[in-house]
Amino acid sequence: MQIIVVKHQKQANELVGGMFARILQTHTHPVFGLATGGTPEGLYQWLRASDLDFRKAVAVNLDEYVGLPATDPHSYAYYMRQHLFAHKPFAHTFIPDGSAKDLLAAAAGYHQILKDHPRTIQLLGVGRNGHIGFNEPNSSFKSTTRVVALTPSTIAANARFFKSKDAVPTHALSMGISEIMAAEQIVLMAFGTNKATAVKNLVAGRVTPRWPASILQRHPHVVVVVDEAAAAQLPVVTLKHAIHQ
Ligand code: PGA
Repeated sequence: MQIIVVKHQKQANELVGGMFARILQTHTHPVFGLATGGTPEGLYQWLRASDLDFRKAVAVNLDEYVGLPATDPHSYAYYMRQHLFAHKPFAHTFIPDGSAKDLLAAAAGYHQILKDHPRTIQLLGVGRNGHIGFNEPNSSFKSTTRVVALTPSTIAANARFFKSKDAVPTHALSMGISEIMAAEQIVLMAFGTNKATAVKNLVAGRVTPRWPASILQRHPHVVVVVDEAAAAQLPVVTLKHAIHQ
């Protein structure tokens, strides 16, 4: 696992944007596993402003709220259009269908999409409780796309995007941990003090479903890009080997 500690989020966006640019240069039909939430907003802004061309690339998103159609401004389908897809067209984009009548079939269908589109790179954020995608603590490392219940802490953290806590959906369709781990490479971004404990457990804790992101220690090609606040609880020895920018 390579740890990069940046002074400013802008540097993280440039860095990950640069990784995306290299992938576009070296792959004819790359598959980008994409994430939503506050963390990648700056990266998407960077990509929108760039001259990168995604028209031969495929995007596969991590998750979607259950019950929100793609037209709902709180849906992740809407988020992706707004932040990236409306500005940078892709050959194909996939997001789990959280408004499907048959969610089991939607999950199985998404699992097949993931099999058919192995990710060249998977972008991740991390929840305060260590979730990746919406794989909350105690999710199986073998999990595949399924309906998950959001924990009260995730609902509280995401309430900032809604009118109130009560408006946050209680469930989501999420890519599973085994599918996340199947990506060729993974880049995780985390900013701010409230991610520091999750980052410590992800980088230097025991590998345990209690902290789902800790499984990334077992992936051969992971880059973790954090600001100083999110790196604040990392052991000194980890920080010594980290790249500081
Ligand atoms: P955030 O969420 O980017 O909005 O902080 C990250 C996550 O929950 O994975």
